[in-house]
Amino acid sequence: MSARRRHPRTRENRLLRLLARLEREPRFDPVAETLGAGIRSLPLGRARDVLHGTWLGHPVHPLLVQVPIGSWLSAAVLDLRKDRPREAGLLVGLGLAAAAPAALTGAVDWAELNPPHKRVGLVHALSNTAAVALYTASLACRATGRTRAGRTLGFLGLTAVGAGGMLGGHLAYRQAAGANHAEAVPHLVTEGWHRIGALDDLPPGLPVRRSVDDVPVMVLRGTDGAIHALADQCSHLAGPLSEGTVSDGCVQCPWHGSVFRLSDGLNVRGPAVAPQPAFEARVVDGQVEVRLRGQDEEEEEAGEPSEAGHEHIH
Ligand code: FES
Repeated sequence: MSARRRHPRTRENRLLRLLARLEREPRFDPVAETLGAGIRSLPLGRARDVLHGTWLGHPVHPLLVQVPIGSWLSAAVLDLRKDRPREAGLLVGLGLAAAAPAALTGAVDWAELNPPHKRVGLVHALSNTAAVALYTASLACRATGRTRAGRTLGFLGLTAVGAGGMLGGHLAYRQAAGANHAEAVPHLVTEGWHRIGALDDLPPGLPVRRSVDDVPVMVLRGTDGAIHALADQCSHLAGPLSEGTVSDGCVQCPWHGSVFRLSDGLNVRGPAVAPQPAFEARVVDGQVEVRLRGQDEEEEEAGEPSEAGHEHIH
């Protein structure tokens, strides 16, 4: 068998190349930036984190879009059968009502993304806006007895929302917007204590970057002498926490402002919806050692006594 036959797919298909070009297309960045700044300045307070999904541990947006998509898809099935025009209209209306909260959660997430995500997200939003416009027109037609036109507009709306859904999938799975960018840390860091350098090399009050098993770790020697260590790459989009700002026992990511508690990595403020893996720290012979939090519990559960006799600074 030839190499060509064994590996028939030697490059990405046309759709993926088109999407890659869209990710790199800067033409609409000024519009996206203005829109993003407007969304970020909305006076949402703590509701912003509710919309991001900090309470849920993952973004709320993918959950909420199920309602309009499901309603409109169901309406399309009834429209194909042509025997339940009233119920089809009700489903179109339900989808429109559910589209508003779904769009709001998507907008607050989108406003905190990086430019390549924003470019794809903008077209995703435009497709879905077109779908809402088509379904609104469809509902108006159905309400005024023009059922056939209502059905046609509904099918066009479903096409638009399908395109929007495909772009949303690209954004979530290909570009990993909304995914936990710190998820791999517990799988990469081996069990036990890891030496990361001399205590004297840690500047008090300033976060620095070290590494454990090639995983970047933000280490902070507090002005009170306590040592804190969190995975350096922010769970939101992998921003460097070691370049962030520290205050009130938390570190703020320099990229989109997520705030994590130093003591345990809790995501105190979004857009990050997942906590940051945290490490315990100790000093042995003037050297700082860290161990991923939770590993001692696993050891104890397995019947192994935890280490004692060392100075635990934090
Ligand atoms: S990378 Fe976005 S808040 Fe950290």
